[in-house]
Amino acid sequence: MPLDLILMGPPGAGKGTQAARIASERGLAHIATGDMLRAAVRDGTPLGQEAEAIMARGDLVPDDLIIAMFRERLSAPDTEPGVLLDGFPRTSAQAEALDGMLEGLDRHIASVIVFEIELEELVRRLSGRRVCRASEHVYHVDFHPPKADGVCDEDGSELYQRDDDQPDVIRTRFQKQWVEAAAPVIEYYRGHGLVSNLDAAQPREQVAAELDGLLDGLGQRA
Ligand code: AP5
Repeated sequence: MPLDLILMGPPGAGKGTQAARIASERGLAHIATGDMLRAAVRDGTPLGQEAEAIMARGDLVPDDLIIAMFRERLSAPDTEPGVLLDGFPRTSAQAEALDGMLEGLDRHIASVIVFEIELEELVRRLSGRRVCRASEHVYHVDFHPPKADGVCDEDGSELYQRDDDQPDVIRTRFQKQWVEAAAPVIEYYRGHGLVSNLDAAQPREQVAAELDGLLDGLGQRA
């Protein structure tokens, strides 16, 4: 049976950092809608052209565009062992669409892990975040610096600061995307008994250990 998981949390909570590791260790497809959108912007596709300004001001990209993009991604063969969803679903409409897609494949979400952390710590993390141009590898100038300034350890590409990692945009993303849009999604999954909370304010290694414990527990319940 495929293992389908959702990581939820405010911007900068560390979802991408943990998702990349978990997906590779557990053989799951890491689907990060933010990474997919930034690739579309870089490639100048119609989706990228529509999404660019929306993302830069910290708003959500419209549901119909996101759902279509996700539907196509879910049809790729690497999703068969399971998916680790990072940044999707973010609205009730996306959650309902996801349920329908998984039902059609005779699959279901096994767990929703919610990363909990305060806004001020998020601003600190995102203000210092640097991302590599080639593959979105994530660094932090203080908490996870690259070996050479401005260069990705993994592929040697340039590190840059995302447009939406400015303090005013971070606050908009937190309020509109997390406090307003995500709350009903969490309640929906809580109603199905799928939600586990994780203390994401801890250092990376401790977050990793807590997350591993939650995922190992799922395996034992299955
Ligand atoms: P997206 O790219 O998904 O952004 P996000 O959800 O806001 O998440 P982030 O990538 O900012 O944070 P993260 O939790 O992954 O943190 P990270 O691991 O990098 O989306 C971007 C935009 O796309 C959205 O604003 C929206 O416009 C659009 N979009 C995407 N999906 C959409 C959808 N489904 N519907 C509509 N629109 C959508 O860590 C952050 C920093 O902290 C890093 O520097 C890292 O090194 C550091 N760090 C990580 N963990 C720790 C730790 N434990 N201690 C100290 N530092 C840490």
